[in-house]
Amino acid sequence: MPTLAVYHTKGGVGKTATAVNLAYLAAQSGANTLLCDLDPQSAATFYFRVKPKLTSGSKTFIKGGKYIERNIKGTDYDHLDLLPAALSHRHLTVALAQAKRSKQRLHEMLEPLKREYAYIILDCPPTLTLVAENVLVAADYVLVPVIPTTLSIRAYQQLHDFCTKKNYDQRKILAFFSMVEKGKKLHRDIMDNMLKQYSELLPSAIPYVSEIEKMGLMRAPVPASTPNSPAAQAYQRLWHEVQGLISKN
Ligand SMILES: Nc1ncnc2c1ncn2[C@@H]1O[C@H](COP(=O)(O)OP(=O)(O)OP(=O)(O)O)[C@@H](O)[C@H]1O
Ligand SMILES: [Mg+2]
Repeated sequence: MPTLAVYHTKGGVGKTATAVNLAYLAAQSGANTLLCDLDPQSAATFYFRVKPKLTSGSKTFIKGGKYIERNIKGTDYDHLDLLPAALSHRHLTVALAQAKRSKQRLHEMLEPLKREYAYIILDCPPTLTLVAENVLVAADYVLVPVIPTTLSIRAYQQLHDFCTKKNYDQRKILAFFSMVEKGKKLHRDIMDNMLKQYSELLPSAIPYVSEIEKMGLMRAPVPASTPNSPAAQAYQRLWHEVQGLISKN
C-alpha cells in the first residue's frame, strides 16, 4: 500500500495541515493509517496531543525496526497511529549522511510497517537536504501544496529542477493549491496559468479559512472538529482525488 509524503521545499504552505487532515480521512475510511512526523518542529505531533518525545536520538532512530515501533503511539481516532517527532530530528540529516545507503534509509525503515498499515503518510520539513532525498525515494506519491503566489511557483519549479538534476521520478509529484484566496486577482491569475503549465496539478484547492488556522487551538483534524465546514469538505475532495489516482495505478 502506498506511502504518501506531504512535502515542499517551501515553509508554511500547509503541509502539516494537509498531512494531519488526510491521515484522519484515510483512517476514517477504515484503513489502518500511520502518520509519520519527520519535522523537528513536531507540529503534527502537537495537533494529535502527543508528546514530542522519542526513546532514542536520530542515529538510533534511523536503524528502524524496534527503534521505530516502540515510538508509535495511538491517537484519539480509530485506525490512526502516529510516529511522533522530537527536537532530535534536527540531527536526522547528519545521521543519514553517516549511514550506509543514506538515500534509501527511510524507504528501508518504513518497509516492515507496510504489513500493518494500509497508508503511511509523511509530514515533511521544508528542506532540500538528505531528509528530502529520502522522502523522494520512499514516497510513492509526493503531495505538494502550492500557494498561488509568485515565490511559491518559483519554489515549485525549483523542486522540479532538483528532481531532474538528481534523477528522481517526477511522476510521483501531485500538486494542489493551498491557502487559496479566491477574492485575490493575483491568486486567480496564477492558478489559471499554473493549471495550463503543470498537468500534475489536482483540481482540488484548499481555501484560506479560519477553521484550518484554528487547528492549533482545537488540536484536532478539521473533519473531526467541524465536519460540515468548507475546509473539511475541501480536504475530503482532495482525499477523494488522491485516492482515485492511487486506485488507478
Ligand atoms: N488553508 C489554510 N487556511 C488558513 N490557515 C492555514 C491553512 N493551511 C495552513 N494554515 C495555517 O498556516 C500555518 C502554516 O501551516 P502548516 O503548519 O500546515 O504549514 P507547513 O507547510 O507544514 O509549515 P512548515 O514548513 O513550517 O512545516 C499554520 O498556522 C496553519 O494553521
Ligand atoms: Mg509543517
